Amino acid sequence: MDTITTVACLRCEYLLNPIGIDETRPRLSWVMESNRRGARQTAWQVLVASSRERLEQGNTDLWDSGRVETDQSTHVVYNGAPLVSRMACHWCVTVWDETGNSITSEPAFWTMGLLKPHDWRARWISQDPDIIHRDPEAVEGTATELGTSPLFRKAFVLPAKPRHATLYATARGIFDLKLNGQRVSEDRFMPEWTDYDKRLHYRTFDVTELLVTGENAIGAMLGDGWWSGFIGWQETRGQYGTLKNSLLIQLEAELENGGTVIVVTDTSWRCETGPILYSDFMMGETYDARRERTGWDKSGFDDSAWLAAVEVAPSKVHIPKFGFSNNQPGETDEDLPLVAQRSEPIRVVETLRPVSMNEIRPGVFIYDLGQNIAGCVRLAVNGQAGTRIQLRHAERLNPDGTLYTENLRRAKATDVYILKGEGEEVWEPRFTFHGFQYIELTGLKAALPLDKIAGCVVTSSTPPAGEFESSHPLVNRLWRNAIWSQKGNFLSVPTDCPQRDERLGWMGDAQVFLRTATYNMDVAAFFTKWMTDVTDSQDVDGVFPDIAPRLREGENFVGLDGLGGGAGWADAGIIVPWTIWRVYGDRRIIERNWDAMVRWLDWLEKANPEGIRRHALNNNYGDWLCIPSDRDFRTQSPMKTLLATAYWADDAAKMARMARQLGRTGDAERFNAMHERVRVAFQKEWLREDGRLTVDTQTAYLLALAFNLLPEEVRGRAADHLVENIKKLDWHLSTGFIGISHLNPILTLTGHADVAYCLLLNEDYPSWLYPVIHGATTIWERWNGWTKEDGFFNPLMNSFNHYSLGSVGEWLYRCVAGIELDPEINSFKQFQIKPYPGGGLAYAGASHQSIHGMIQSRWQRQDTTLTLDVSVPANTTARIYVPSDEGTMVKEGNIPVEQIPQISLFGRDGQFVVFKVPAGRYVFKSTFSK
Ligand code: BGC
Repeated sequence: MDTITTVACLRCEYLLNPIGIDETRPRLSWVMESNRRGARQTAWQVLVASSRERLEQGNTDLWDSGRVETDQSTHVVYNGAPLVSRMACHWCVTVWDETGNSITSEPAFWTMGLLKPHDWRARWISQDPDIIHRDPEAVEGTATELGTSPLFRKAFVLPAKPRHATLYATARGIFDLKLNGQRVSEDRFMPEWTDYDKRLHYRTFDVTELLVTGENAIGAMLGDGWWSGFIGWQETRGQYGTLKNSLLIQLEAELENGGTVIVVTDTSWRCETGPILYSDFMMGETYDARRERTGWDKSGFDDSAWLAAVEVAPSKVHIPKFGFSNNQPGETDEDLPLVAQRSEPIRVVETLRPVSMNEIRPGVFIYDLGQNIAGCVRLAVNGQAGTRIQLRHAERLNPDGTLYTENLRRAKATDVYILKGEGEEVWEPRFTFHGFQYIELTGLKAALPLDKIAGCVVTSSTPPAGEFESSHPLVNRLWRNAIWSQKGNFLSVPTDCPQRDERLGWMGDAQVFLRTATYNMDVAAFFTKWMTDVTDSQDVDGVFPDIAPRLREGENFVGLDGLGGGAGWADAGIIVPWTIWRVYGDRRIIERNWDAMVRWLDWLEKANPEGIRRHALNNNYGDWLCIPSDRDFRTQSPMKTLLATAYWADDAAKMARMARQLGRTGDAERFNAMHERVRVAFQKEWLREDGRLTVDTQTAYLLALAFNLLPEEVRGRAADHLVENIKKLDWHLSTGFIGISHLNPILTLTGHADVAYCLLLNEDYPSWLYPVIHGATTIWERWNGWTKEDGFFNPLMNSFNHYSLGSVGEWLYRCVAGIELDPEINSFKQFQIKPYPGGGLAYAGASHQSIHGMIQSRWQRQDTTLTLDVSVPANTTARIYVPSDEGTMVKEGNIPVEQIPQISLFGRDGQFVVFKVPAGRYVFKSTFSK
């Protein structure tokens, strides 16, 4: 076979060719790809130049790293000339392999945004309130009523064609921008959600191609978004202090002839009402196409009747009232920092056609997308001007075929489109999204054909990174349901659900699903950004919130009259940096969040001097939605105290390991000691000699085992008690959000893979496959969201798109397909392939695009012959655990593994024969009768 080696996937701060970053020491990564066994990198050289031409001419005016002898290919810190605002950085990397050959990548780039507050010359503008008063249909928003979305416009002249033009934009609210009639970006909901008390994102766009010599025009439309719209179950709008949306835009065009034209928002901009009568994430959007101002976003439009925009003050950093501390809440003197968005934008990533339509009553058409999604509907429709089409959205249908909307609580999820009557009109709402599978369309006499309706899937565009497939179609569907719940809920922040009036960054949900999320998609940038939301919302005492970004209701954490600090929720403040470090090898996320993490543990220690986490001022959701459920999160029960203490011990253990990585020996000792103290307290409080816990729940055993809280000699017995508990329930699970992510991994790792498979394959309630059998296309919030006997559960809390119980995805990749991190080495630089065939599956396999390249593992059984097909990416090594019967021979291809020079044999470990292999594809054959 010819060997093909390439260097691909050049990324800066995890992003492909990002525009407008504000990281002054950005990290570069690449992937060496080769089909040669043993291919690895021995050295690299990065060249960075201020233009593509310079780079191509070898004029590397920003950085020539020189040849660096190492196999590092990720998180290489830029170490060249200082990076300043607006700089373009074009780069490539040369990689030397183990044969001494070198290969150079194609060029890539990143550009710098506006790094200093004084780089912004634009002024914040808002609409003149009179535009509303002159327009009988337009409405002014109030704390509870939605308002009309204004249009802004600015015409300007460019004396020559621009060589390069960049547009920087942000809003308090969300914007949609046009330049000369063309959309500046298809990205949605910009700027995305941050803790607006602490920071606001801006976006940078290369608009060179959109500008012309002569007159140009910018048009901007402003919606409410998170800034002023309804958030969560809040009864009033304007969480961040104002109902008024505003806009900040700066366009910088460098002309061919050398001059620069700068166009900024100021009172010379014009404003007017537009077609959007109102829009809101929860409520929906009403769009009257007859009110479109044709040509408003192009040159030559007469805006003399429009009003001048008004200048408004920038926001200040705001200190919220924190729970039980005596801090001074209120506004500070500091301007709210504008920061570059550092994660993949929200986009429509795919569109789905309905699979069927049913006219349930004359003129009431129900479309079924066949898939529960987060997003919106795109229509293509002909009709008379003034025809009013209404779209309502729901996840499920009632038995009579009508929409089941009770579980949306106060989210109206209703969009209205009023036709202008000019041929085929294609429309989709811009400033709202819904969680739905079914659409009710009314307002037309005849149904729209299926090809005139599309479901637009709106999500943070994190790159897909994993696939799983087995011989069991229901298990495959379960895996797909978890992916769909990830798409439906990774929307700027990891939310709990996309449909009801909630959609919040619940931290417990995020942490239990995180490992699954990393297998499914590349979420490194997404969670790096979210950790900023988490630390922005940490309170003055060090308590992490339960939701990030925090809400302001009652000037308090999360509007639950709670104080954050929820066990298993707030702990995400430790678990997220830990996981991103482990999975991607990202050291910076622990460095940057170090102080915040230490403050959290300081607080835990101070609040719980005896080593048991009883602190009663906090919420404790326990093993949320376990069976039987204990929903009162304000009371403490022994199980809740156990859960909280277990998380504390684990936080400390993780901190000790991260401290060692950072070379913080003192901290490592401190957290080791803390872990030991809490572990001892845990045992004293709950462990009996026979390995039984006095709180005898599945989750109690799972946490004790997963977090290594038991003496070595009782682990086996504790695992047996866990199995006994499952057996007592006729081999069923009873865990909630917290226990579930540990259930199958711990059963497998303690020698009970057969029980894990049994739970996986159960089809009756409660089980993962019960919803699948009953038509679920996403993961449900509850095991009993709907049952044959009782129908829908109480609609007050019953989402059909919540990913937490989908955390079993991690086990499918890790233990069924067997793609697993090395216990000591991060980022799949060295990893394990350790599959546990079972459950009667004839085959199972997965692929995972790690930061080092594509890993694959697939096994197949025929009688007692097991074939394991593995791909190990270039520049990595793997420990392969081939399941095989004692005394039988393992072959690769047709050759006994002992005879293959690249394979180092380690011997047996239980049911496995263990090897270490370098990069390459390997097909192992063994005899495995278990
Ligand atoms: C949410 C969650 C969350 C929980 C906290 C629910 O309303 O949907 O998933 O973690 O509250 O108790």
